[in-house]
Amino acid sequence: YSLRACNTFGFDARARWFCRIESPEQFAAVLRDPRVAGLPHLVLGGGSNIVLTRDFEGVVMHVALAGKRLVREDSEAWYVEAAAGENWHEFVAWTLGQGLPGLENLALIPGTVGAAPVQNIGAYGLELAERFGSLRAVELATGDMHEFDAAQCGFGYRDSFFKREGRGRFAITSVTFRLAKAWTPHAEYADVARALATSGAGPSPRAIFDAVVAVRRAKLPDPAVVGNAGSFFKNPVVDAQTFDALHAREPQIVSYRQPDGRVKLAAGWLIDRCGWKGRVMGGAGVHERQALVLVNHGGATGAQVLALAQAIQEDVRARFGVELEPEPVVI
Ligand code: EPU
Repeated sequence: YSLRACNTFGFDARARWFCRIESPEQFAAVLRDPRVAGLPHLVLGGGSNIVLTRDFEGVVMHVALAGKRLVREDSEAWYVEAAAGENWHEFVAWTLGQGLPGLENLALIPGTVGAAPVQNIGAYGLELAERFGSLRAVELATGDMHEFDAAQCGFGYRDSFFKREGRGRFAITSVTFRLAKAWTPHAEYADVARALATSGAGPSPRAIFDAVVAVRRAKLPDPAVVGNAGSFFKNPVVDAQTFDALHAREPQIVSYRQPDGRVKLAAGWLIDRCGWKGRVMGGAGVHERQALVLVNHGGATGAQVLALAQAIQEDVRARFGVELEPEPVVI
């Protein structure tokens, strides 16, 4: 089964078996099927955070669980639940249409609701963890349903329990968001603030949504047009001493001081500084407007994109002594 349409890089890898999951019970049922017994399995949402480097000799379970609703409200918040297979951006747009603000900064992020907590998606000053209520997940080995609160999800920067210890063990089936009734805008991010100023609109949820959509359209390649998986590396975090030494050598380095005193560096700036922006290696390349995004210009394989990533990592290591960690899951 070709996975080409199931991954936003558009890599033409194949799966030995493929199935569409339309109810939570089907995960365990598929894995009990004698035809796939003992084979590896892969739970796939929108395929927007994955690098397929070769054919998958196992079963791919494509999550097609649907449905979204306001489940309850109290004096402080609305609780909105969406099934794992819902498209993330359409869900965000729907919440705003229902008069339930809070997710607007995360507009236009490719992928599904169920994949969003796995890497704790974040953009323009907001992380999913800040709007998270709880999630339901099925334990693949047993078929048992479990409920996870925020602490159990172990959220970090582009990280969670499901990307670490829980990887391959659970499939997320639905996510409930807690949207505070006391809405406050997150409009500090320079690009968003600029877009808001240009439009002349005040920082309403709708205006921020529109600003984020405009900024993303201007900077990031649309995976429907050019294959990519968003940022290819995490922004690395270094200790204060390392940062001071780097800053002395490279005064223009883009950095963000963290609450714990460490410093997050803009990986895009480091890569750009090494001269990689817009470069091409075979069918793989570095996006011309955002050096943190690697792209498939057409016909590239996952292995070629990984080779490009390694060349970039080596240059950044040699010039800055900083290690870049890939952000998508590599299969
Ligand atoms: N920069 C350069 N050259 C480049 C790219 C960036 O100099 O080629 C500089 C920019 O000028 C800016 C800084 O680096 O000063 C940061 O760039 P940007 O605002 O584009 O954000 P980012 O740190 O590169 C992160 C997330 C994005 C998210 C944006 C906005 C990660 C790994 N990436 O990118 O998330 O949309 O911030 O909040 O944290 C994703 O995870 O797939 C993703 C797109």
